[in-house]
Amino acid sequence: MTTTTFDQTTPTTDTHMLMVRRLLVDLNQPFDRHWNGGSAFRTAFANALSMSFPMGEQFFIDAVQKGLALLPSTPEHDALRKEIKGFVGQEATHRHLHARFNQILTEQGLVNHLQNRIQRRIEIARKLSANSSERGKALRELAVTAAYEHYTAVLGEQILAIQDAPGDWFLHAQPQVKTLWRWHASEESEHKCIAHDLYQILGGSHSGRLRWFAYVTVLFTLDVTRQTLNNLWHDKTLFSWRTWRDGFEFFLGRHGLVWRCAGPVAQYLKRDFHPMRVGDSQLARDWLQQHQHQWSAVNQRHQVS
Ligand SMILES: [Fe+2]
Ligand SMILES: [Fe+2]
Repeated sequence: MTTTTFDQTTPTTDTHMLMVRRLLVDLNQPFDRHWNGGSAFRTAFANALSMSFPMGEQFFIDAVQKGLALLPSTPEHDALRKEIKGFVGQEATHRHLHARFNQILTEQGLVNHLQNRIQRRIEIARKLSANSSERGKALRELAVTAAYEHYTAVLGEQILAIQDAPGDWFLHAQPQVKTLWRWHASEESEHKCIAHDLYQILGGSHSGRLRWFAYVTVLFTLDVTRQTLNNLWHDKTLFSWRTWRDGFEFFLGRHGLVWRCAGPVAQYLKRDFHPMRVGDSQLARDWLQQHQHQWSAVNQRHQVS
C-alpha cells in the first residue's frame, strides 16, 4: 500500500508516464471455444466482459477527452494532460485487440448483444443530457467512467495477484489469450487514477460519484450476467451441471471472485477514496517488466485509434 499524500489538485497516478504498448501476441491464431482451461463458465464470463470493452472503452475515452477540454491550461495540470494522452492510447489499443478477439467469438457462434445495448444506452443518455452544460455532461460521464475504472482496476489486480497457482482465474487458459488478459489487467491497474483525478479536479461531488457508482454496479452486474447466460446458451452448455459447479466455484469458492473483490470494491464508498489507496500497483509493474518480450512501446503519434 502506498504512503503517498494525496492532493486533489495534482494527478496522483504512478510516478511514471503511461506508456502505450503494442502486444506481440498473434490473435489470428484460433483459440478453443472453451479457451479458459476447458471451463464453459469461466470462458463465457470472460467473453462477456470482452464483449463490453470496445463500446465501453470508447465511452471512457470520450469522457476523459470531454474532461480534458475543460481542464485549465495551467502548468500544474501538464502532467495529467500527458497521462490522459497515455490513457487514451491504452484504451484505444485495448478496444482494438478486444474487437479482434470478439470477432473470433462471433465466428464461434456467440452473439454480442451487450455492445448494442451499451451503444443504445449511450445514445439515449446523450440525448437526455443535450441541454446540460458542457461541465455537467463531462462530470456525469467521468463519474460513470471512474466507477467502471474502479471495477476494471480491482478485477485487473486480482487477475495479477495469483498467477500460475490455484486461484488464478486464467490458470489453464490458452497462452495468447492469457497474455491478452494479463496485459489488459496490468494497464487497467496502471491507469486507474486518471478518470477519478480528472473528476475531482473539475469539481465533481462525492454524492455524484456515489450515485453513479451505484448505477454502474447494478448495470455492470446485470449486463455481464445477461451476456454470460447468452454465451452459455449459444455454447449449448447453459443447462450443464458442470457449468454451474464451475460458476459457483468461480464466484464463491475458496478463491472466489466475491471474496477477493468485495473489500476493494467497497473502498469506493469512502469519502477519502483514491484508487492508489486500493490494491497493489506493483503487481502491474512486475508483470509488464517480466513480460517485456511480449510487448513493444508505441510512438503515441502513431498509436492505434
Ligand atoms: Fe481497458
Ligand atoms: Fe481502463
